[in-house]
Amino acid sequence: MARPNRQVLLREIPTGKLEQSHFDVRDGECGDPGDGEVLVKTRLLSIDAANRAWMQGATYRSALSGGDVMAGGGLAEVIESRADTLAPGDIVNAETGWQEYAVVPARQATKIDVKGALTNYLSVLGVTGLTAYLGLTEIGQPKPGETLLVSAAAGATGNVAGQVGRLLGCRVVGVVGSDDKGRILTERLGFDAYVNYKGGNLHKDLKAACPDGIDVFFDNTGGDILGAALFRMNQHGRIVCCGVVSQYDTSNPEPGPRGVPGLLITKRIRMEGFIVFDLFNRRDEALERLSGWVDRGDLVVLEDVFEGLDSAPHALVDLLAGGNVGKRMVRVS
Ligand SMILES: NC(=O)c1ccc[n+]([C@@H]2O[C@H](COP(=O)([O-])OP(=O)(O)OC[C@H]3O[C@@H](n4cnc5c(N)ncnc54)[C@H](OP(=O)(O)O)[C@@H]3O)[C@@H](O)[C@H]2O)c1
Repeated sequence: MARPNRQVLLREIPTGKLEQSHFDVRDGECGDPGDGEVLVKTRLLSIDAANRAWMQGATYRSALSGGDVMAGGGLAEVIESRADTLAPGDIVNAETGWQEYAVVPARQATKIDVKGALTNYLSVLGVTGLTAYLGLTEIGQPKPGETLLVSAAAGATGNVAGQVGRLLGCRVVGVVGSDDKGRILTERLGFDAYVNYKGGNLHKDLKAACPDGIDVFFDNTGGDILGAALFRMNQHGRIVCCGVVSQYDTSNPEPGPRGVPGLLITKRIRMEGFIVFDLFNRRDEALERLSGWVDRGDLVVLEDVFEGLDSAPHALVDLLAGGNVGKRMVRVS
């Protein structure tokens, strides 16, 4: 039985900045699940900077094409199951695409034992929190007393990475695109300082905010911020390459900064990328620590929720322009 299904399609792959006109919202249909599949109803869609990177390809997943249902996922409720492992009413994390209903293979839907707010399973207890915790601890290896710099620090991943660094005893500095965001970091999240990269004095401001240099840089942006941070890195510093959001919203990404590889050599810096799924052998440990910090009130949960599937294109375009504070998501149902 085909059921009515509200969907957001990617009309065409953008060649410059992403705009809402690159999407179409339509009333489509959803079919029935086959053997080993489940029919799910989307509850919360995760809106991620990486959604934009996927459109250009050359990421860890295949590129999108014009006319596709926009790729993405989030939390969904099982409505009908043709698999032993899942039952109606279960909440799962799944790649639903930007649509109201989806049929997905049961083995690609991870059941979630929800305790507390559902939204937390997209933010601090979801891929976002895991990326921050696992990337920082595994690749950055921060030690108490060290200086940790985080870029896109008021964003979903960045705010958790900074707070985890604080809880592990680091002095934490965030790089953000406005003073309002900076004040959220220092007044609400316990960051020690912030730098507004749009202030016009990035090198000077970074030097003032990091007088003892930078030991660990959790980098979500690449671009000019990475270029400036490289010059402030201490000997044997670690750069955690988490993402390159400064280069996603274009088809002409800039070449890497001029300090690579020269400064890596002279300062014995380790610069290493990661994909969070590769570190999932430590997933249980990460979730236990993150939920413990949240329960004790040591880690502030920052979430930014849009209402209704039709708002998803605006939610992504606005996120790329820096409109979000914390983890952005869309409540679909
Ligand atoms: N490696 C992994 O496994 C993994 C997993 C998840 C996410 N990530 C990466 O983590 C990074 C953050 O993603 P997120 O989903 O958490 O997004 P987010 O940080 O919540 O949102 C993106 C933020 O990036 C900032 N930004 C946008 N354009 C920028 C520019 N040109 N220069 C500097 N900052 C800019 C904006 O904040 P401002 O107002 O401060 O500019 C915006 O709020 C992304 O690079 C993503 O690809 C990696």
